[in-house]
Amino acid sequence: MMHGGRRRLKLAAMSSIPKSSQEPRPAFGTVLAPTMTLARFQNGQWGVFDVRPCAPIELHPAAHVLHYASTCFEGFKAYRWADGSVNVFRMDRHIERMRQSAQALVLPEPDPQQLEEMIRATIDRNRDAVPEAPGALYLRPILFGTTPNIGAAGAAATEATLIVLASPVWDYFAGGMKPLRIYVEDVNARTASQTGKVKTGGNYAAALGPTLEARRRYNVDQVLFCPGGSVQETGASNFLLIRDGRLLTRSLDSTFLHGVTRDSVLTLAREEGYHVEERVFDVAELLKWVPDGEAALSGTAAVLAGVGTLVCHGREYRVGSGEVGPHTRKLRERLVSIQRGESPDTHGWTKTV
Ligand SMILES: Cc1ncc(COP(=O)(O)O)c(C=O)c1O
Repeated sequence: MMHGGRRRLKLAAMSSIPKSSQEPRPAFGTVLAPTMTLARFQNGQWGVFDVRPCAPIELHPAAHVLHYASTCFEGFKAYRWADGSVNVFRMDRHIERMRQSAQALVLPEPDPQQLEEMIRATIDRNRDAVPEAPGALYLRPILFGTTPNIGAAGAAATEATLIVLASPVWDYFAGGMKPLRIYVEDVNARTASQTGKVKTGGNYAAALGPTLEARRRYNVDQVLFCPGGSVQETGASNFLLIRDGRLLTRSLDSTFLHGVTRDSVLTLAREEGYHVEERVFDVAELLKWVPDGEAALSGTAAVLAGVGTLVCHGREYRVGSGEVGPHTRKLRERLVSIQRGESPDTHGWTKTV
């Protein structure tokens, strides 16, 4: 897959980490930290994990994951604070979500304590690759079934591998704080309704075709999936509507990913005095909200990214002034200042590693 000049992924030599805001920043996820951790599940138990260079691994072509997509992952960040310490944000919630994803896919569940140790070791061994703010070290645990058996469509993987990768990252959306263009897909779903809350590769594969098609036709950044007209989430983030004193987002159900950022923003919004509504709402209500309201995407990668334009049935709808609105900016700042250790963490969300 990786041939000489076409090789896309780089290992994060210190030279590939920008030292100043003037230097160009690599695209999200394209630079990997030099060290990863790996554990295998065999004979009904997890083995001791090892710390090794981030490099290709051997996988049997009959591995369960390659045929039956038995795989899930997580994504969250560790931040370098001004005092030089490295702090990871809401690791417990991500470990718990990974355990739930594994359970839904009938994969061996990671042992939470071992996974935390693997994450800590991965951060520790890649300490030099943790960028200064506004960068962060993105942590990417992956779990996949490795049992070699091509007749196992109806059988769970009994062997699995768990790896924690790390990647120094900056902006997810290339424009930074530029308002996003979002295509409103009001017919098709992103995923099967029963696996929407599972962070599994197949969901992303399913959303890719419609996302690339919308990008090609309408020059949008993301697709907001609203199956049957009911507003859900985008391919990689949750969706929030915000205005003076109010925040509206879909209530939790099995059809979409329960974002940790969503939960954090809702908590902070309540503290800031916003009335937070979590309920089902449709595209008609969305289009009524946006002329004088705000819309934003929330996620580990997106943080809280403002939406400037919606495209629905070929028509463009400006969101508020078309720029990132003041409420989105304020809530983003509240969240980012906690993540970066610039304001007190009263919720116990950050852990020093
Ligand atoms: C489909 C989807 N929805 C929502 C989110 C946001 O989740 P979180 O805030 O936990 O990163 C993500 C990102 O991981 C995602 O991939």
